[in-house]
Amino acid sequence: MAKEGKTQSPEYAELKRRFGWEWNGMRLHEYYFGNMIKGGKGIDKNTNLYKKILADFGSYENWEKDFKATGAMRGIGWVILYYDGNEGRLFNTWINEHDGGNLCGAKPILVMDVFEHAYMIDYGLKKADYIEAFVKAIDWTIDPKMDSWIE
Ligand SMILES: [Fe+2]
Repeated sequence: MAKEGKTQSPEYAELKRRFGWEWNGMRLHEYYFGNMIKGGKGIDKNTNLYKKILADFGSYENWEKDFKATGAMRGIGWVILYYDGNEGRLFNTWINEHDGGNLCGAKPILVMDVFEHAYMIDYGLKKADYIEAFVKAIDWTIDPKMDSWIE
């Protein structure tokens, strides 16, 4: 469209405006399905990630409580455990829809879908039960390269 001189068109503007929403919708679903495994896989206590969870949240249980509470908030979107390398900190973050609230420069570690479609069929209005089931299915396998980045 740029080559054709159409950068002033509404179509060009809308493609640009919607790109982040569509992109994140795709990528977040890849992460979401990628970070679950039937029966779950516990976190390795020797990883930098585990040590960082303790340092930033006080305990794994505190982290989990905050992660679940973030997911239980009203609205549709995602909960992402992010690691930000610049600050050296983990954050449990609410994402509105796919695009509102993503932390620029931070790496998503764990992603949970909290759009209704993620739980309505199996759990109805019992969002808390879905979140509980999700937490039990977390695959805490962490790429050693990623883990070495966490300080
Ligand atoms: Fe979804």
